Amino acid sequence: GETPKPPQLTWSFSGPFGTFDRAQLQRGFQVYKEVCAACHGLSLLSFRNLAEPGGPGFTTAQAAAVAAEAKVKDGPNDQGEMFERPGRLADRFPSPYPNAQAAAFAFNGAAPPDLSVIAKARTYERGFPTFVFDIFTQYQEAGVDYITALLTGYEDTPADFKLPDGSNYNKYFPGHAIAMPPPLADGVVTYADGSPQTTAQYAKDVSAFLMWAAEPHLEARKRLGFQVMIFLLVLTGLMYFTYEKVWHDVK
Ligand code: HEM
Repeated sequence: GETPKPPQLTWSFSGPFGTFDRAQLQRGFQVYKEVCAACHGLSLLSFRNLAEPGGPGFTTAQAAAVAAEAKVKDGPNDQGEMFERPGRLADRFPSPYPNAQAAAFAFNGAAPPDLSVIAKARTYERGFPTFVFDIFTQYQEAGVDYITALLTGYEDTPADFKLPDGSNYNKYFPGHAIAMPPPLADGVVTYADGSPQTTAQYAKDVSAFLMWAAEPHLEARKRLGFQVMIFLLVLTGLMYFTYEKVWHDVK
């Protein structure tokens, strides 16, 4: 049947002055680590990124502790052997599967994609004229809106739908048959900050985290963009006065 449009949600990081909600990014990271990381890599991210400005705001010690919990492949050593060691701040996040073939094999060809840039790599059809307005409203949250909807979009298979073996019915996945089993359920992650432990909340938090992973310099970009606009405004004024002065005798 029809693929419904994901609801357009409110995000702290939307708009020209949007910033990430640190607590939300930390919760979202917890969801990624405890749930998604079993199947999905985040291979463009390094542990040190967790402590960088504009991100989840972990301390360097916290990021190092997260790294130390991970097993990272290294080598070859002097004996020519590969080995595993605890992660360090400079390491990338290790992926759950050794390579794309192994990942695809585990799911009948539908490999769990690496989530590093998924928030920017996915979108949904906005339709005319909405997509024209999007250019002016700077709507950049189609990816996170889609991921949130996808994670909460599992439903019973309608009677008239033939679900292929090994797939699950999801309202928002194009074609509805997705290889990913429903990853979230109420209560599966225990939050320390008292936030609701519901599928809806987990979905929002992990989506926000994936937005940061895909665009770690979003805050700096928006800040610089605003400064450039101020600068151009001032420059316009100065250019006007210059023009008046230079052409004074001619007019
Ligand atoms: C696909 C997110 C947990 C297995 C995907 C996609 C996203 C995603 C965004 C891409 C959908 C698309 O192509 O439009 C997440 C998040 C998770 C999570 C945020 C944690 C909350 C898991 C887990 C598994 C898994 C635990 C394995 C048990 C897969 C597979 C696909 C997939 C096999 C490919 C689906 C297909 O193409 O049919 N996931 N996932 N995911 N995920 Fe997950």
